[in-house]
Amino acid sequence: MRRPSALLGGALALWGVLSGGCGSSTPTRSGDVLFAENCARCHGADGKGDPRTLPLYPRVDLTRSPMGAAAERILIHDRIARGYTTMPGFQDKLQAEEIGKLVNKCIALAAPAKNGA
Ligand code: HEC
Repeated sequence: MRRPSALLGGALALWGVLSGGCGSSTPTRSGDVLFAENCARCHGADGKGDPRTLPLYPRVDLTRSPMGAAAERILIHDRIARGYTTMPGFQDKLQAEEIGKLVNKCIALAAPAKNGA
Protein backbone atom coordinates (compact mmCIF):
# COMPACT_ATOMS: atom_id res chain seq x y z
CA MET A 1 0.00 0.00 0.00
CA ARG A 2 2.99 2.33 0.28
CA ARG A 3 3.67 2.83 -3.36
CA PRO A 4 0.33 4.06 -4.65
CA SER A 5 0.05 6.70 -1.93
CA ALA A 6 3.62 7.85 -2.58
CA LEU A 7 2.79 8.15 -6.25
CA LEU A 8 -0.37 10.05 -5.48
CA GLY A 9 1.55 12.39 -3.20
CA GLY A 10 4.13 12.99 -5.90
CA ALA A 11 1.44 13.69 -8.46
CA LEU A 12 -0.28 16.15 -6.15
CA ALA A 13 2.99 17.93 -5.45
CA LEU A 14 3.70 18.19 -9.17
CA TRP A 15 0.20 19.51 -9.81
CA GLY A 16 0.77 22.11 -7.11
CA VAL A 17 4.00 23.25 -8.73
CA LEU A 18 2.48 23.42 -12.20
CA SER A 19 -0.72 25.25 -11.24
CA GLY A 20 0.81 27.52 -8.60
CA GLY A 21 4.06 28.27 -10.42
CA CYS A 22 2.46 30.04 -13.33
CA GLY A 23 -0.62 31.32 -11.55
CA SER A 24 0.74 34.64 -10.32
CA SER A 25 0.10 37.59 -12.59
CA THR A 26 3.40 38.62 -14.09
CA PRO A 27 3.50 42.33 -14.97
CA THR A 28 3.87 42.59 -18.70
CA ARG A 29 2.76 46.17 -19.32
CA SER A 30 5.49 48.44 -20.63
CA GLY A 31 6.61 51.65 -18.94
CA ASP A 32 4.77 53.66 -21.60
CA VAL A 33 1.47 51.87 -20.93
CA LEU A 34 1.91 52.08 -17.16
CA PHE A 35 2.62 55.81 -17.47
CA ALA A 36 -0.48 56.37 -19.62
CA GLU A 37 -2.65 54.43 -17.15
CA ASN A 38 -1.35 55.86 -13.87
CA CYS A 39 0.54 59.09 -14.41
CA ALA A 40 -0.65 60.88 -17.55
CA ARG A 41 -3.74 62.36 -15.87
CA CYS A 42 -1.46 64.65 -13.88
CA HIS A 43 1.83 64.58 -15.76
CA GLY A 44 0.32 64.60 -19.27
CA ALA A 45 0.77 62.00 -22.01
CA ASP A 46 4.08 63.66 -22.95
CA GLY A 47 5.18 64.05 -19.32
CA LYS A 48 5.11 67.85 -19.52
CA GLY A 49 2.16 68.25 -17.20
CA ASP A 50 -1.00 70.30 -17.49
CA PRO A 51 0.00 73.95 -18.17
CA ARG A 52 -2.60 75.07 -15.61
CA THR A 53 -0.89 73.07 -12.84
CA LEU A 54 2.65 74.19 -13.66
CA PRO A 55 2.58 77.58 -11.85
CA LEU A 56 1.65 75.76 -8.63
CA TYR A 57 3.65 72.56 -9.16
CA PRO A 58 6.52 73.16 -11.61
CA ARG A 59 7.81 69.66 -10.85
CA VAL A 60 4.81 68.16 -12.58
CA ASP A 61 6.80 68.71 -15.80
CA LEU A 62 8.83 65.50 -15.76
CA THR A 63 10.85 66.55 -18.82
CA ARG A 64 12.43 69.17 -16.52
CA SER A 65 12.78 66.95 -13.48
CA PRO A 66 16.18 67.44 -11.82
CA MET A 67 16.05 63.95 -10.29
CA GLY A 68 15.16 62.50 -13.68
CA ALA A 69 17.99 64.30 -15.45
CA ALA A 70 20.41 63.15 -12.75
CA ALA A 71 18.98 59.61 -13.02
CA GLU A 72 18.46 59.49 -9.26
CA ARG A 73 16.81 56.08 -9.35
CA ILE A 74 16.26 55.75 -5.60
CA LEU A 75 14.72 59.22 -5.24
CA ILE A 76 12.43 58.71 -8.23
CA HIS A 77 11.43 55.27 -6.99
CA ASP A 78 10.59 56.75 -3.59
CA ARG A 79 8.46 59.51 -5.16
CA ILE A 80 6.44 56.96 -7.13
CA ALA A 81 6.13 54.39 -4.35
CA ARG A 82 5.30 56.75 -1.47
CA GLY A 83 4.04 59.86 -3.25
CA TYR A 84 4.85 63.45 -2.35
CA THR A 85 2.57 66.40 -1.49
CA THR A 86 -0.42 66.09 -3.84
CA MET A 87 0.98 63.11 -5.71
CA PRO A 88 -0.39 59.80 -4.39
CA GLY A 89 1.90 56.84 -3.67
CA PHE A 90 1.64 53.80 -5.90
CA GLN A 91 3.27 51.11 -3.77
CA ASP A 92 -0.08 49.42 -3.04
CA LYS A 93 -1.23 49.64 -6.63
CA LEU A 94 1.85 48.72 -8.65
CA GLN A 95 4.35 45.90 -8.29
CA ALA A 96 8.02 46.64 -7.68
CA GLU A 97 8.88 45.65 -11.26
CA GLU A 98 6.27 48.07 -12.61
CA ILE A 99 7.62 50.93 -10.49
CA GLY A 100 11.07 50.06 -11.86
CA LYS A 101 9.79 50.49 -15.40
CA LEU A 102 8.28 53.85 -14.46
CA VAL A 103 11.61 54.97 -12.98
CA ASN A 104 13.17 54.23 -16.40
CA LYS A 105 10.35 56.14 -18.07
CA CYS A 106 10.92 59.21 -15.85
CA ILE A 107 14.65 59.17 -16.59
CA ALA A 108 13.95 58.83 -20.33
CA LEU A 109 11.51 61.77 -20.19
CA ALA A 110 14.09 64.00 -18.49
CA ALA A 111 17.06 62.92 -20.60
CA PRO A 112 16.60 65.49 -23.43
CA ALA A 113 16.56 68.31 -20.86
CA LYS A 114 19.92 67.10 -19.62
CA ASN A 115 21.31 67.35 -23.14
CA GLY A 116 20.41 71.02 -23.33
CA ALA A 117 17.11 70.62 -25.23
C1 HEC B 1 -2.76 63.22 -8.75
C2 HEC B 1 -1.76 63.73 -9.68
C3 HEC B 1 -0.49 62.91 -9.90
C4 HEC B 1 -0.40 61.61 -10.33
C5 HEC B 1 -1.52 60.64 -10.67
C6 HEC B 1 1.03 61.33 -10.44
N1 HEC B 1 1.75 62.43 -10.07
FE1 HEC B 1 3.79 62.54 -10.04
N2 HEC B 1 3.66 64.41 -9.25
C7 HEC B 1 2.48 65.12 -9.06
C8 HEC B 1 2.79 66.44 -8.52
C9 HEC B 1 1.77 67.54 -8.18
C10 HEC B 1 4.21 66.49 -8.38
C11 HEC B 1 5.06 67.65 -7.85
C12 HEC B 1 5.04 67.58 -6.34
C13 HEC B 1 5.77 68.75 -5.72
O1 HEC B 1 6.86 69.12 -6.20
O2 HEC B 1 5.27 69.26 -4.72
C14 HEC B 1 4.71 65.19 -8.85
C15 HEC B 1 6.07 64.85 -8.86
C16 HEC B 1 6.58 63.70 -9.44
C17 HEC B 1 7.98 63.38 -9.54
C18 HEC B 1 9.14 64.23 -8.98
C19 HEC B 1 9.75 65.11 -10.05
C20 HEC B 1 10.86 66.01 -9.49
O3 HEC B 1 11.93 66.11 -10.14
O4 HEC B 1 10.68 66.58 -8.41
C21 HEC B 1 8.08 62.20 -10.19
C22 HEC B 1 9.35 61.44 -10.55
C23 HEC B 1 6.72 61.77 -10.51
N3 HEC B 1 5.83 62.71 -10.04
C24 HEC B 1 6.40 60.62 -11.19
C25 HEC B 1 5.10 60.13 -11.31
C26 HEC B 1 4.78 58.85 -11.89
C27 HEC B 1 5.77 57.88 -12.50
C28 HEC B 1 3.42 58.70 -11.78
C29 HEC B 1 2.58 57.49 -12.18
C30 HEC B 1 2.87 56.25 -11.50
C31 HEC B 1 2.89 59.90 -11.15
N4 HEC B 1 3.94 60.74 -10.89
C32 HEC B 1 1.55 60.12 -10.88
C33 HEC B 1 1.20 64.68 -9.33
C34 HEC B 1 0.86 63.41 -9.74
